[in-house]
Amino acid sequence: MTTKRLNPTTDKHAIETAAALIRAGEVVAMPTETVYGLAANAESPDAVRKIFKAKGRPQDNPLIVHIAQMSQMQRLCTAIPDAAYALARAFWPGPLTMVLPKSNAVPDEVSAGLQTVGVRMPSHPIAAALIRASGCALAAPSANLSGRPSTTTAAHVLQDMDGKIAAIVDGGACTVGVESTVLSLAGDVPRLLRPGGVTLEQLRAVLDTVEVDRALFEPIADTETVSAPGMKYRHYAPRARVMVVQGDAEKTANYIKAHRNPADGVLCFTEYAPLFSGAILKTLGSETDLDTQAQKLFDALRAFDDTEVQTIWTQCPESTGLGLAIANRIQKAAGFHMITL
Ligand code: TXA
Ligand code: MG
Repeated sequence: MTTKRLNPTTDKHAIETAAALIRAGEVVAMPTETVYGLAANAESPDAVRKIFKAKGRPQDNPLIVHIAQMSQMQRLCTAIPDAAYALARAFWPGPLTMVLPKSNAVPDEVSAGLQTVGVRMPSHPIAAALIRASGCALAAPSANLSGRPSTTTAAHVLQDMDGKIAAIVDGGACTVGVESTVLSLAGDVPRLLRPGGVTLEQLRAVLDTVEVDRALFEPIADTETVSAPGMKYRHYAPRARVMVVQGDAEKTANYIKAHRNPADGVLCFTEYAPLFSGAILKTLGSETDLDTQAQKLFDALRAFDDTEVQTIWTQCPESTGLGLAIANRIQKAAGFHMITL
């Protein structure tokens, strides 16, 4: 199929054209504030199956449902605790996904057989407008081929999805750059399943207790049952092997300089780029600027796939604030093989 390019800044019918495709049961890539998503009508099993096919996504990995108003959460979820409303007031619209017991309105194709559903109200104006214009909630995973780094520009999406989906709405580069925070409210205690655009510190300012799932820190075996099925798959992975060096930034930069082979790629904080002249190099942004690091991470990981490098050495921020999400993506790209200084 030919993937239509739609751009709301040059075409005032772009959102309506995309919404008509969604209503016809097609898959459309849309920008969100975190990463691009592959959207389809969340209540149509046939449409949702097309998402899995386009991505090559394992059937047991559930999708997040994107909403534009609270009444949609009430339609999709049951047993909604007060904490969910408090979190929605604090962080919606925005990069927080809440996992709640699902209603019968959510097909098994979306929840991948679980009794829960992840819901999020994105803040990106194009995503919000598309949900409203479509007249339905939108199931949408990140718009990358399964296993590859997420997509933060329309060009990234086309690299993976051209010819596989009906259309893409181009909204420029995503501002957050890492995916939403996934928080389960379906158990006794709120549990962080994936760190993301809303930080653990921000969640703890609203909730008394937040547990952190061990999948954030270690690889999960294929055979294990986990709270977030997506956690067990190799993720965010460029073609090359990724070697993460963690610790004080100056020490890690010097360690990489001393240990890398001349043909190896380097992903480093901007301050240390001069140490690696001649290397195939991408920078993450300043070591003190987590917002920029999050925005640039997936673009940098994807860019290495256009090079010949077999090994990428990378620095990694401390796991505080947005650094927890960035470090998690880097560690997952490395299959949790890390050198800590
Ligand atoms: O920022 C984001 O969340 C982006 C944009 C497009 O909204 N979406 C995204 O979706 O990252 P995806 O499918 O790439 O990642 C969703 C993660 C997966 O790890 C999945 O296993 C988990 O959320 N998840 C979804 N529904 C779940 C559920 N009911 N219970 C536990 N985990 C769930
Ligand atoms: Mg994803």
